Amino acid sequence: MKHIKLGTLDVSRIGLGSMGMNAFYTGHSQDEVESIRTIHRAFDLGVTFIDTAEVYGPFTNEELVGRAVKRRRDEVVVATKFGFLSHSGRAAGSLDSSPASIRTAVEGSLKRLGTDYIDLYYQHRVDPDTPIEDTFGALAELVAEGKIRHIGLSEAGVRTIRRAHAVHPVTALQSEYSLWTRDPEEEVLTVLRELGIGFVPYSPLGHGFLTGQIRSTEDLADDDWRKTNPRFMGENFQRNLRVADEVKAIADEVGATPAQVALAWLLAQGDDIAPIPGTKRVERVEENTAADGIELSTEQIAKLDNLTPASGDSHNEAGMRLLER
Ligand SMILES: NC(=O)c1ccc[n+]([C@@H]2O[C@H](COP(=O)([O-])OP(=O)(O)OC[C@H]3O[C@@H](n4cnc5c(N)ncnc54)[C@H](OP(=O)(O)O)[C@@H]3O)[C@@H](O)[C@H]2O)c1
Repeated sequence: MKHIKLGTLDVSRIGLGSMGMNAFYTGHSQDEVESIRTIHRAFDLGVTFIDTAEVYGPFTNEELVGRAVKRRRDEVVVATKFGFLSHSGRAAGSLDSSPASIRTAVEGSLKRLGTDYIDLYYQHRVDPDTPIEDTFGALAELVAEGKIRHIGLSEAGVRTIRRAHAVHPVTALQSEYSLWTRDPEEEVLTVLRELGIGFVPYSPLGHGFLTGQIRSTEDLADDDWRKTNPRFMGENFQRNLRVADEVKAIADEVGATPAQVALAWLLAQGDDIAPIPGTKRVERVEENTAADGIELSTEQIAKLDNLTPASGDSHNEAGMRLLER
């Protein structure tokens, strides 16, 4: 597995997203043994970058990751996130990146992860009620104390990225980026490269849709988060099946699976990009990790660049309001 640098942090260029093991998607929290086997298989295949968050579960996903990394802590980069849960008394559902909330959040994450340091600690969404300078001031103190080693942002816009980076170097931005979510190409990637900040695409498989395995929303449980996502609703869903079919046609040409092609396309965007495909299944982590060995031709990349655009926003209205654009 090839490695890249996010800022100064060395990671395998394909990571593992663990969110779906305990939250949001159909079948979560049902087979912890398989989830842990999936994490170990990823490590055996050379993945050194695992992604979780306080809010996944909440809490249970960090606990699971903590159990999985126990004997291999020094070999892997553990990334987690704070900010969706308030520990300073704000109303339930409020973002909270106040210094007081971060102080409590980090202690909880360290405990659940069974570690005394977090390699990469991201703010999960920009908090409109706390200046980013205050948030980064608190995070810089945690770096000085050795509790966290690197700082990241998620779905932050370029103005916030610049302001944060002026207080303490930002190691990585984690935002949605995939064949059907191209927003970071407009402005964000340019600014990250100017500042030497790495990029971690989340939902690189389009929440599974780009793999072509989801052909009907009937396949999803009633409480599956994707049922609230406009791209998975009604006519949008039917129209988007065409995008999945286009990816499949190119994958057939490449001699790879659609998931591998979706990942290989992201890898081709630069050596400062490390996607974190999510799965809770051993066979899929094997498939996804093998994308490291796939080289797309210029023509194949051009075809993928020109897929039919997705129908529907990438989040529902409330979710879109939390994304800085
Ligand atoms: N910063 C943020 O706000 C944010 C938001 C969302 C996600 N994330 C992070 O990004 C990670 C990845 O994103 P994601 O999980 O939302 O979406 P994703 O990686 O685009 O897709 C995951 C979905 O695809 C399925 N899948 C995975 N590999 C597959 C394959 N080879 N063939 C067919 N289906 C496959 C998974 O099902 P199975 O599990 O059943 O295999 C799961 O339902 C998360 O785990 C999380 O760590 C961060």
